[in-house]
Amino acid sequence: MRTQLIFLLISFLVLKSESLNCYENNPRGHPSDLRVFHISSPCSPFKKPNTVSWESTLLQDKARLQYLSSLAVKSSVPIASGRAIVQSPTYIVRANIGTPAQPMLVALDTSNDAAWVPCSGCVGCASSVLFDPSKSNSSRTLQCEAPQCKQAPNPTCTVGKSCGFNMTYGGSAITASLTQDTLTLANDVIPNYTFGCINQATGTSLPAQGLMGLGRGPLSLISQTQNLYMSTFSYCLPNSKSSNFSGSLRLGPKFQPLRIKTTPLLKNPRRSSLYYVNLVGIRVGNKIVDIPTSALAFDPATGAGTIFDSGTVFTRLVEPAYLAVRDEFRRRVKNANATSLGGFDTCYSGSVVFPPVTFMFAGMNVTLPPDNLLIHSSSGNTSCLAMAAAPNNVNSVLNVIASMQQQNHRVLIDVPNSRLGISRETCT
Ligand SMILES: *[C@@H]1O[C@H](CO)[C@@H](O)[C@H](O)[C@H]1NC(C)=O
Ligand SMILES: *[C@@H]1O[C@H](CO)[C@@H](O)[C@H](O)[C@H]1NC(C)=O
Ligand SMILES: *[C@@H]1O[C@H](CO)[C@@H](O)[C@H](O)[C@H]1NC(C)=O
Ligand SMILES: *[C@@H]1O[C@H](CO)[C@@H](O)[C@H](O)[C@H]1NC(C)=O
Ligand SMILES: *[C@@H]1O[C@H](CO)[C@@H](O)[C@H](O)[C@H]1NC(C)=O
Ligand SMILES: *[C@@H]1O[C@H](CO)[C@@H](O)[C@H](O)[C@H]1NC(C)=O
Ligand SMILES: *[C@@H]1O[C@H](CO)[C@@H](O)[C@H](O)[C@H]1NC(C)=O
Repeated sequence: MRTQLIFLLISFLVLKSESLNCYENNPRGHPSDLRVFHISSPCSPFKKPNTVSWESTLLQDKARLQYLSSLAVKSSVPIASGRAIVQSPTYIVRANIGTPAQPMLVALDTSNDAAWVPCSGCVGCASSVLFDPSKSNSSRTLQCEAPQCKQAPNPTCTVGKSCGFNMTYGGSAITASLTQDTLTLANDVIPNYTFGCINQATGTSLPAQGLMGLGRGPLSLISQTQNLYMSTFSYCLPNSKSSNFSGSLRLGPKFQPLRIKTTPLLKNPRRSSLYYVNLVGIRVGNKIVDIPTSALAFDPATGAGTIFDSGTVFTRLVEPAYLAVRDEFRRRVKNANATSLGGFDTCYSGSVVFPPVTFMFAGMNVTLPPDNLLIHSSSGNTSCLAMAAAPNNVNSVLNVIASMQQQNHRVLIDVPNSRLGISRETCT
């Protein structure tokens, strides 16, 4: 009897501490901080038993890049034809939707405006966790006349009916109805938040419990909460290898770092959801690499330029820029020849000394620590330069500073002051 009690007590404590680690928001007591988990964190229910090797992550990134490119052309054509391409999200946060709150673990996407969750009755949704609007007394379906309906992607609307829309994401497609409900993030209550309630889904690229778009377009969280968060947020993405760590998403101007290097934040009408910056050069060691100006130029007419993205894993540079960086990197690694591994073409085994790489943004130089520059194979001693050339297809005139290069940094997006800031921080 007593041992049973003690056992119960211990299991209660264990469960309690696990739930604290995984589910409690407000790290460091900041009221508008959400914990950010890597998809392979013990706190993530989305861990796949046979996790894909990092070498094959580049293939997923390719799908992501096609997606980002497709934003320049207003098109609803699915970008993956035939075999489904996987574009699984990398980071998740806890969001509570409805009254009483229904907790969902949604994927973060800094390059997307839309928010959507799988809803009860959904045909083709993979998740067992579904949002049930009928169990929320604050839920309502928006009608076609609602102004938000015009902002939804591909609205399918007949006057007097509810507002439906459909969109593609990676190799998947969804049909959803535009819904409003209370969204609770950490301690903040956001009434009448507009999002898609997915009724039908095809493909395998959708984040299981939904998506929270942090892009800058009209339907995004940032635009819908201007009075509360003033289009200001920052995030710290934890390293994928330290799976027990979480990062944070800090919403609003309060508690943001005061001393932080910044560069102007740019807006490109061709891809209006994305956060652009002006990358002016790249330094390898102490040498500024010779890159044709056109490879880095910001161009509002074509959508070309450099963005920060949370959904791409490895930084992509347009080919002439990547080749110049790679060649200089190889030149500086003494007494070793580069080999290829998966999609990476600059890998070395054994102990070699790597040169530092610095991204030179307008007014801000960011030198990457080795953990942001190299990826190490789990078997053997191989380390690869964790970057690649952007796919050489149409519309893909985009340099993407990806999550691997952002890990353990705080990235501040400050739209009112048109600036993007970066400072090193160990995400905890
Ligand atoms: C909605 O539900 C909450 C809690 O479940 C309750 O406190 C509230 O009074 C309800 N509101 C309405 C309008 O029924
Ligand atoms: C998606 O939208 C297009 C264009 O409005 C429409 O033709 C199509 O039927 C819609 N698909 C679904 C599944 O609703
Ligand atoms: C939310 O929408 C309902 C229904 O339109 C409205 O009555 C209410 O005032 C809105 N609440 C806020 C805080 O905007
Ligand atoms: C994470 O924590 C668990 C339990 O405390 C531990 O067994 C595991 O080794 C840790 N993993 C890492 C990568 O630190
Ligand atoms: C690198 O390759 C060149 C040409 O094949 C060869 O001569 C050289 O010995 C190689 N260096 C090392 C360190 O393996
Ligand atoms: C960045 O580095 C370059 C080259 O080393 C230097 O000329 C420039 O002044 C630096 N910019 C800033 C903002 O520190
Ligand atoms: C890693 O490199 C060290 C020294 O270069 C060597 O002793 C060891 O056998 C290597 N391990 C593997 C798995 O290749």
